[in-house]
Amino acid sequence: MAGLMTGAARESRVARYYDWLSRYHSLVARLGHKGGFDPLTVHRLLRSDRAEVAPADVAHDRLLTTLGPIAAPRVIDAGSGFGGTVFYMCARLDGQYDGLTLSPVQQARAAREAARRGVAGSCRFHVRSYDADLTDVVPGGADLVVAIESLAHSADPLRSVVHLSRALRPGGTLAIIDDVPRDTLGDDDPDFAAFRGGWSCPAIARDRTLAAAFAAAHLSVEHDEDLTPLVPLRDRAALERLVLSNRRWRRVLGGSVLGSLVDSLHGGLMLERLYRRGLMRYRFVLARLARPGSMRPSTPS
Ligand SMILES: C[S@@+](CC[C@H](N)C(=O)[O-])C[C@H]1O[C@@H](n2cnc3c(N)ncnc32)[C@H](O)[C@@H]1O
Repeated sequence: MAGLMTGAARESRVARYYDWLSRYHSLVARLGHKGGFDPLTVHRLLRSDRAEVAPADVAHDRLLTTLGPIAAPRVIDAGSGFGGTVFYMCARLDGQYDGLTLSPVQQARAAREAARRGVAGSCRFHVRSYDADLTDVVPGGADLVVAIESLAHSADPLRSVVHLSRALRPGGTLAIIDDVPRDTLGDDDPDFAAFRGGWSCPAIARDRTLAAAFAAAHLSVEHDEDLTPLVPLRDRAALERLVLSNRRWRRVLGGSVLGSLVDSLHGGLMLERLYRRGLMRYRFVLARLARPGSMRPSTPS
């Protein structure tokens, strides 16, 4: 059971999950699939009201606009997927980037893309947990740690936030964009349980966990935006038709790799139900580490 897994077992499960999801994305992209996802990002496609901002870049655009002027930053992307966020930022800000992913398939694809774009010297990708020691990656600390839809996989989000805050230079910023369940959503809610299982998010942080994590890390929240209105949702009937068809496929495919992919799609459908029920929000939070003179982040017990 997910709750009883060791950290290493959980991470290798997330790595396998993204390795297979990445192969599936490559396959359907080669078969000419155009919608549903962007080739270099693995996060929610949001509604864009500006023609020049693609749905995959709405989150990036919000991030850069809100950060304000930040020249040539030292950045860690904690959960970098195929590197879409790193490439977006590097093209606009310059700087030095290190992307961390658990998936070797994602890392290899991101590194190939960095070489193809001629930015391999400034955009590096590692198969490394964001919970691991990062001092060799950013010896002098980072100006910005960004985590888009990645902390949701942490087995202990409070500990992960405190750990990532230690990779920041004084005055550095942690940016999180993620699905955040309402405090009132119970663990035993069937939609929530199916979402957590399908997407490998056993301990996804609710609002209160994030607030406790920022306090423990001595991070002060400078921006907290609810991006939920930008999350596209299907109408209820279409969603429920997909749920039924998904469960039929699951019975046919059983516990095979394809069955796990179908479970992952089911997790996404359950997440959509939770949005429709008003129990989930898509939050964008920027929190800044105190400058010298303030207390250092404490170790969570
Ligand atoms: C939904 S994808 C998002 C990828 C990317 N942020 C984006 O927006 O395209 C989640 C990412 O988090 C990564 N991830 C999950 N847990 C991680 C961990 N403990 N350490 C490093 N990466 C992790 C996965 O490998 C995957 O790349």
